[in-house]
Amino acid sequence: MDNSQLHPLEVNPKTGEPFLHLLSHKNIILTPPRLSDGPAMIPLFNDERVYHWLSSPPYPYLPEHAEWWLNQVKPVSDKLLMELEAAREDPTPKIVDGCPVCIIREVKEDGTDIFLGSIDLSLAEQPWELEGTGRISQGTPRRDPRDPDIWTLGDYLAPSHHRQGIMSDALQTLLHQWGIPRMGVRRMVVTTLAGNKGGVGVFEKNGFKFRKTVDDVLEVRGTMRGVHVLEWTLPVDEEKVVV
Ligand SMILES: CC(C)(COP(=O)(O)OP(=O)(O)OC[C@H]1O[C@@H](n2cnc3c(N)ncnc32)[C@H](O)[C@@H]1OP(=O)(O)O)[C@@H](O)C(=O)NCCC(=O)NCCS
Repeated sequence: MDNSQLHPLEVNPKTGEPFLHLLSHKNIILTPPRLSDGPAMIPLFNDERVYHWLSSPPYPYLPEHAEWWLNQVKPVSDKLLMELEAAREDPTPKIVDGCPVCIIREVKEDGTDIFLGSIDLSLAEQPWELEGTGRISQGTPRRDPRDPDIWTLGDYLAPSHHRQGIMSDALQTLLHQWGIPRMGVRRMVVTTLAGNKGGVGVFEKNGFKFRKTVDDVLEVRGTMRGVHVLEWTLPVDEEKVVV
């Protein structure tokens, strides 16, 4: 019997892998990471159209970097899925601390899929993201409605698929289908490296508002770079629907 705790994730009947369809791009899905994803990640992170706008991946990006990352994120996704499995008999949807599906894949007509990138919600930790909250770090979500946790987002997409509205759709899907109802996300403060029109555009298309630019604040591969900071709060009328 299907586990209703996975809702709105579906389960691939052939592989048993959970997935989430994007709301508009029906051939694009989010799935858990797979240990076999490494070879597809390497050319993306060695492409200047991707790595120039990301602060954390090393360059050049080597097989061991992909292996390290997959060994970090796969257990997190597995643990979330185990928590949902353990709650199978509970009719109330369980609130969890993350999303088990963070990898963006394009499904081909023959049912195979290709790795396109990643999108992930996590608790904000940068000082400019936590500014004004009185917090200097966030260990685990508190979900205090009077003092909402600050969530942030990391994302990247294969250049072959840029500018087709895929990441805007992925953010809308992830936030509204999982982040708000299943993680209790109510407030987000996000960062892009200064000048990243694509990064800013994805957030603005999802109703994020520009907060500020901070100059020369982040060292990225040996160079100080500025950041744009944007914010989003769940509208009060939507809050009533999900509580
Ligand atoms: C940022 C990124 C994820 C955007 O993904 P995408 O699927 O191409 O984005 P979308 O097609 O949804 O674009 C949304 C809006 O952003 C803006 N935008 C996107 N790419 C742009 C570009 N190259 N130049 C100017 N504006 C751009 C546009 O306003 C666009 O809306 P429009 O096409 O209707 O005009 C992708 O460019 C990428 O992977 N870049 C490298 C890594 C990165 O920057 N990650 C984000 C870190 S914050």
